[in-house]
Amino acid sequence: MAAMKKLVVGNWKMHGSRSVNAELLQGLLAADLSTSAPRADVAVCPPFVYLADAVAALQGGAIAVGSQDVSVQAQGAFTGEVAGPMLRELGVRYTIVGHSERRTYHAESDQLVADKARAALSHGLVPIVCVGETLAEREADQTEAVVGRQLQAVIDTLGADLVRVVVAYEPVWAIGTGKTASPEQAQAVHAFLRARLTAAQADAARVPLLYGGSVKPDNAAELFSQADIDGGLIGGASLKAADFAAIARAA
Ligand code: PGA
Repeated sequence: MAAMKKLVVGNWKMHGSRSVNAELLQGLLAADLSTSAPRADVAVCPPFVYLADAVAALQGGAIAVGSQDVSVQAQGAFTGEVAGPMLRELGVRYTIVGHSERRTYHAESDQLVADKARAALSHGLVPIVCVGETLAEREADQTEAVVGRQLQAVIDTLGADLVRVVVAYEPVWAIGTGKTASPEQAQAVHAFLRARLTAAQADAARVPLLYGGSVKPDNAAELFSQADIDGGLIGGASLKAADFAAIARAA
C-alpha cells in the first residue's frame, strides 16, 4: 500500500471558537499543504457548529472538511442529531464514526457504529471508522479480539461497500496521553486489520488504514513509514497549525 497517497485528518474534538478556528485555518492555508505536503490528502474535523465556517474558509483549496459524528437517520424526530444529507449539503466530505470517546461516553455499540458508517456512505460521506483497544484489553492480550470484533460489525453491515471506508486504529491508551503506540505495535495491528479486510473482500486491501493516538511532528514520519499505515487521525496536534502541517509533510 506504500504507493498510495497518505490521508492526514485532524480531529478537533470539542475545541475552538470562531476566532481560534479562523486563525488555525489561516495557518493551515498559509502552510500551502498541496505544495508542501503533496503526498498527503488532508482534512479537518471541527465541531458541527463550525463546519460551515470551515468549508467556507477552505473553499477551493486542498483541505477537506469532516464531521466528528453522523446520525444513522436521514431526518426526522431525533433531537440533537445531525443527518448525513445536512452534512453533505454543507460540503462536508468525511465523517468520523465510532471514536472511542463516543463508544465510551455515549455507549455506542459496534453495530451502531457500523450503521453510522452505512448511513454516511448512503449520503455521499466517507466514514472514518475508529477501532481500538483499552489498556486493560491490550494487557489481557485481547487487542486483536477487540479490534477484530469492532471491524467485523462493519464488514457484515457494509457488504460490497466495505471498499469505500477509511479505518482508523486508535489504541484508547494512546489517545491524548502522550503514549504513542510504537511503530511496530501500530504496524502489527494494521497488518491484522488489513488481513481481515482482505479476507472479507479482496478489493478491501486498499482501504486506507490510519493510525491515531498521540501522533506528533516528531513521531509521524516513522509511523507513516510502516507498510500498513496509510496516514493518521490527529487530535491534540491538529489544533496547532504548525504541528498539523508538519505531520502532513511527514507523509
Ligand atoms: P490525540 O487524539 O492525537 O490527541 O491522541 C487522537 C484522536 O483521538 O483522534
